[in-house]
Amino acid sequence: MEVSSEYAVQMHGIVKRFGAFTALDHIDLDVRKQTVHAILGENGAGKTTLMNILYGLYQADEGKTYLYGEEVNIANPTGAIKRGIGMVHQHFMLVENFTVTENIILGDEVCGAAGVLDMGRAREEVTKLVQEYGFEVDPDARIQDISVGMQQRVEILKALYRGAEILILDEPTAVLTPQEVDKLIEIMDGLVTKGKTIIIITHKLKEIMRSAHECSIVRRGKYMGTVDVSQSSENDLAARMVGRNVNLKVEKTPAHPKDVCLSIKDLTVCDERGIEQVRKLNLDVRSGEIVGIAGIDGNGQSELVDAIMSLAKAQAGTIEVKGVEVQNTSPRKVIDSGVATIPSDRHRWGLVLPMIVSENAVLEHHGDEVYGKGIMLDYDKLRAYTEELVSQFDIRPAGCEEERISGLSGGNQQKVIIARSVTHAPDVLIAFQPTRGLDVGAIEFVHKTLIAERDRGVAILLISYELDEVMDVSDKIAVIYHGQIVGEFEQGTVGEDELGLLMAGGGSQ
Ligand SMILES: Nc1ncnc2c1ncn2[C@@H]1O[C@H](COP(=O)(O)OP(=O)(O)OP(=O)(O)O)[C@@H](O)[C@H]1O
Ligand SMILES: [Mg+2]
Repeated sequence: MEVSSEYAVQMHGIVKRFGAFTALDHIDLDVRKQTVHAILGENGAGKTTLMNILYGLYQADEGKTYLYGEEVNIANPTGAIKRGIGMVHQHFMLVENFTVTENIILGDEVCGAAGVLDMGRAREEVTKLVQEYGFEVDPDARIQDISVGMQQRVEILKALYRGAEILILDEPTAVLTPQEVDKLIEIMDGLVTKGKTIIIITHKLKEIMRSAHECSIVRRGKYMGTVDVSQSSENDLAARMVGRNVNLKVEKTPAHPKDVCLSIKDLTVCDERGIEQVRKLNLDVRSGEIVGIAGIDGNGQSELVDAIMSLAKAQAGTIEVKGVEVQNTSPRKVIDSGVATIPSDRHRWGLVLPMIVSENAVLEHHGDEVYGKGIMLDYDKLRAYTEELVSQFDIRPAGCEEERISGLSGGNQQKVIIARSVTHAPDVLIAFQPTRGLDVGAIEFVHKTLIAERDRGVAILLISYELDEVMDVSDKIAVIYHGQIVGEFEQGTVGEDELGLLMAGGGSQ
């Protein structure tokens, strides 16, 4: 592609190596001005790495970058911001106990005459931005108190506050509810209309179809071409990305449920502020079935999972696993009673980032005989075990057992958690947003794994904000609204519209 000022960003022949591993192998990217440009590729393909180079977090080993036709050398994020590039990372980088405004101005504080921080003026500027782009965020709320979707808008605001003209969004919708996705697409449209250019990394083909003009495809560090989205389809994009046809529909046989294995009765759970988030909730999951909970984020899902895992206190009611009450015991007791979990926030609950992959692969189970030598881990056994997982679950790159888990791509970190949960043969598996951040090939694999576990007799509780996922994978669907189950259906007996209505509180009882 010729270098031209028609393009906001051009990256040509980019090579990036991590030690002996080549993460990017002569990648090209040409992003037209004032468009939404998607980057699509499997977990570990190199998408985030490429954007980290554009944002100055990494230096390319080879290749050139041009902004509006001019060659640039971006040494660090400060340099990127100066040139009008903003980035919202896959994992947010906000300070939890700061307010929205404080987070937005952090590192870029407006100072008054005496060099004193002028919060009043900062707040005004933030409010102006919020209104201009229709963000619907409270500038005074604390990050810890707002939804993930709002936190993300704060990240975008932060970039705009610094004058971003080119905005990189790394998997912005992985954590959003359908409504928040609509809102984000609206915001992106508005930004493009006002002259901004957006590069979006996403695994959601539907959203690429809805929001992007062009889509560049990366496969294992190599550039596979750019397509005009209006001339493409979800199946076409999936096939180009994975290099084979992907089955976007879940295939499964009917369930053969046995006895009730997880039984929740009249469960009430409060959040930190003492507000009831789960209210007298009743739910049974039998061995050999998948019960899916459909609902919008913030309707008690995380409190429910926390209560099951004894990470939150059950104010009232019981949680039984195989007939034994486990509420208000300890996570250890719950795990020992046969419950495994795929947590929704892998960094908070799922992984210890400074540890290597194999250590993470046995987290929660490090006391087990198989890996233990007294109180020590037996690293030889551990390595053998992890090698097996890495190959079985196609965790990339192959041979990553001894690497720090923080060096793995987001999707591959998620695969480590799933491998760990599933292979420790639980009776109950709590899958909370199990495919968050995964590529379509990996999603296909996780869904197959869940169904295989079901067929082995595991009782599976699937909690997901993706309505499609709940509808496709579950044998029974329960809708949660304001901490209560407001409807229960056998799979296939209910449509998306009816569920959507219940999820939004439209079925008021
Ligand atoms: N700092 C690092 N050190 C070592 N290896 C790294 C580092 N950063 C990335 N890699 C490797 O480079 C490859 C590309 O990773 P990257 O995070 O760019 O993937 P991705 O396409 O964003 O995947 P995902 O969809 O899972 O987020 C992966 O194999 C990853 O393990
Ligand atoms: Mg990534």
